[in-house]
This record gives sequence, structure tokens and C-alpha cells, in this order.
Amino acid sequence: MAELFIKSEIIDRSMEEDIFSEVEPFRIKMVEPIRMPSREEREKCLDEAGLNVFLIKGKNIFIDLLTDSGTGAMSDRQWAGLMMGDETYAGSRNFYNLEEAVQDILGFKYVLPCHQGRGAENVLHTSLIKDGDVIPGNTHFDTTKAHIEHKKGRAIDCTIDEAADPYIDLPFKGNLDLKKLEEVYKEYGKEHIPFTVVTATCNSGGGQPVSLQNMRAVKELSDRYGIPVCLDGARYAENCHFIKVRETGMEKHSMKEISRMQAECFDIMTMSAKKDAIVNIGGFIATRHEEIYDSVKNLGILFEGFVTYGGLAGRDLEAMAIGLYEGLDEDYLKYRIGHVRYLGERLKERGMPVLWPPGGHAIYLDMKEFLPHISPDQFPGMAFCAHLYLESAVRGVEIGTLLNGRDPDTGKNRPAKLELVRLTIPRRVYTFKHLDYVVKAVLKVWEKREQIKGFDLTDEPPVLRHFTAKFKWAE
Ligand code: F0G
Repeated sequence: MAELFIKSEIIDRSMEEDIFSEVEPFRIKMVEPIRMPSREEREKCLDEAGLNVFLIKGKNIFIDLLTDSGTGAMSDRQWAGLMMGDETYAGSRNFYNLEEAVQDILGFKYVLPCHQGRGAENVLHTSLIKDGDVIPGNTHFDTTKAHIEHKKGRAIDCTIDEAADPYIDLPFKGNLDLKKLEEVYKEYGKEHIPFTVVTATCNSGGGQPVSLQNMRAVKELSDRYGIPVCLDGARYAENCHFIKVRETGMEKHSMKEISRMQAECFDIMTMSAKKDAIVNIGGFIATRHEEIYDSVKNLGILFEGFVTYGGLAGRDLEAMAIGLYEGLDEDYLKYRIGHVRYLGERLKERGMPVLWPPGGHAIYLDMKEFLPHISPDQFPGMAFCAHLYLESAVRGVEIGTLLNGRDPDTGKNRPAKLELVRLTIPRRVYTFKHLDYVVKAVLKVWEKREQIKGFDLTDEPPVLRHFTAKFKWAE
């Protein structure tokens, strides 16, 4: 398998010798027991879930790598912050703490809290997108794309071509291709492009970072065409870490300085705080422009709630304000990225087809190599997840043809460019030893790979089908 990997490995500056890339910079004050269901129970659970691991109850999962969203462990300070919730309907002090944190870390003057990332997308997109508009970006996340399409717009992917090769070892595989972007600008003009969205890190592209240089170039180009740029910043802090350790001249800057430099490339930011702000629920829209804030705030009130709470309790706002700082802490980020990379390296050493370099929040396995005998129409990623669960009670998630959905014109499955399974690491939740268990689990599936069959759909919802679709084993 080694020949899959192209070019030398990226060595992240300072990661090599740094203790926090291999030891947790926290100690554990509270534990939540997890239980291993028996093989018989696992078989029953999978069967009852129509073979879709999404439908298995959490209590029947041993290690849950479905998502890093809202699954992080809050710190003692965040829990203390919850006790300081000011549940005033309008003007809660926790809102002002959040506003200050966003202004300090990101430099955006205006902050509109929302209950989570897609709440922010719904408010922003309803306000800015009209029928027939296009929104260019770097492999939009699925809720972003779904919201764009819901507002009768269209997402256009302008990611660099290299991102489609899972084994090219490049430092910034989330970058946008400026030529592709300018072609879109020339074809549609600012009349039909309400904004461009940069997702950093790029989740659907393997958790890959975007360089500061690329963001600056996108901003400069977009300014020339009069088009605002929006950061989908769910994992903005992890992106800052990659900028610090991979981009020339950046190592001397603090995380906050890098975050401010990054944010300067954007007019707007939508945030799912369930990721890099390490809260279980929360999000916001932030902008430096009063007119954009004015255009979103009324829809915010309509969809999410008053402008100082946005669908959240005062206590949630407080946990988010504190979590923004913790998620940008340099030692924490070294641990975080090192922890994820540890899983990737252990799997790669054993010859597993791992998308390379490792992402910031997850390891992605290439199903075209793992299960080459299963066609995209029979969802190899889903079959892998089912077997991973049967072997180990570990839950991963398919990022492939099932997630991609059907072409609205032809009704056919849209085969994904990359057929992946994502092993997503919650923040501050699992230990390095848990990851060793995951490695063993993946190897067990590998040993049986030739006998693994694909899936046939038995029940398929019309939108976002991956959440609730059901299957049977293909003959
Ligand atoms: N943008 C990105 C890049 C995301 O990864 C997500 C969610 C959202 C927006 C939407 O945020 O969930 O708070 O509404 N990603 C989760 C995941 C669901 O598993 O990757 P949300």
C-alpha cells in the first residue's frame, strides 16, 4: 500500500519535539463509563438500525467517532461558566462576554448568536441568496450546500485539483484555485454572487487546511470583483494551528495573532461553536459590516430568537465565550492535532489507505482502496462502518456516495469523487489508548475485507438521506 502515498511526508514545525503532541495537556476530573455490547447485541443493534450505524442508540456504541460536533468535553471553567448564566431575555451579560471574545479573537465587531452552525447558515443565506445565485467555495459542507440549494442557489466547487488525490502530501489541500474562482466571478458577476465561502479547515475535503496566503489572495480577488467573503469557521482554530506550523514566517506569531490575520481576510463568518469552541451546542454569525449585520439581525430574531441569545440559554453563551479561548490555546491545539495525527500514523504504518496528510479533526479512510470490489452504488463506506461496528462497537461515518445524494435531474446516485469513511475525534474525550483500540478494530475489518458485501437501499428519504436510510446486504 505504501506506493499509494505520493511525495515526502510533511513534518510540522515544532510538532516533532513537542510533548503536547503526544500527551494530553489536561487531567480527567469526571468520567463517563462506556460499555462494550456483546457480539450478539451488536448484530441485533445493526439489524434493527437497517444496517445504518447512524440509527444505533448511543448506549450501544463503545467508541463514537461519528462526529466531533457537540461531542467535546467541556472544561471545569466552562462548567463553572454555566452556573453564571444570566437568563435575562434581552441583554444577558453572557452575550456581552461572547461578543467581547469574538471581537478579541476574531476582530469582528458584530456578533449574532445562533443555536448552531446551520442556524447561522439559514439566517445568512435567507438574507443574502436569491433564486439563481451561485456561491463559490472550497468543497462546501453538506448543510452549507443544502441551505444554499434550499434558497434556490447553487454551490460551485473551486478547490484545487490536487485535493481530489487522497495521497498527495501537500500542506494546504483545502486551498481554493484562484483561476477557477475568477472564472466563476467573470461568468456570474457580483449581481449573482452574494458571497464566496471558504471552509477552514475543509471538512468535506478531508479536514484539510487553507493557507493564510490563499485566504489573502481570495480576499484580494473578491474585493476586485466587489464580492464579500465568508469564513465557514467551525474549525477555524485548527486551521490557525496548521498555518502556524506549516506556513513560512508564521511560527513567530501567537495563535490569537494568526486568528486575527485569518479573520481579516473575511467580511463574514458563520460558526458552528460545537467544534472549535468546544461546546455541546451553539454558534454565531459575525461580521465587520454594519449593513450585513442589519440585514441578518431581523431574520435572526425570526428564526433563532432575540439578537442577544439566538436560540441559546445565557449559560450556553457563557460556555461558548470561554470555549473560544480554550479552543485557540496553543498547547491544546498541539495536543489536538497530534492526537488525530497519531491515529493516522498508526493506521498508515500498518498499510491502511489513509487520506494524507491527516486532517485536523478526523482520519479519513479511502474506500476505493479498502473495498475496491464494491461499487459506489452499493455504498462501500456504509458496508465498512457496519463491519467496524460488528467487530468493535466503534462508530465511523460514511463521507461518500450515500452522503452525496442523487442528481436532481437524472435521479441517479452522484458518485463521490472520494469514497471515504471518517473517523472523527471528539475534543478532549478519548485517550491515546482508545485510539490504539480503534487501530485494532480497523485492522480486523481489513482482514475480512474480501468477504465484505455492499448494500442495497430498502428505504431512502428524499433529502439528507444518509441520516435515516435503511439497507440490506447485497446478494
Ligand atoms: N460547517 C462545517 C464545516 C461543518 O462541519 C458543520 C457541521 C456545519 C457547518 C454545520 O454546523 O452542525 O452546528 O449545524 N459538521 C458536523 C460534522 C455535523 O459532523 O462534520 P452544525
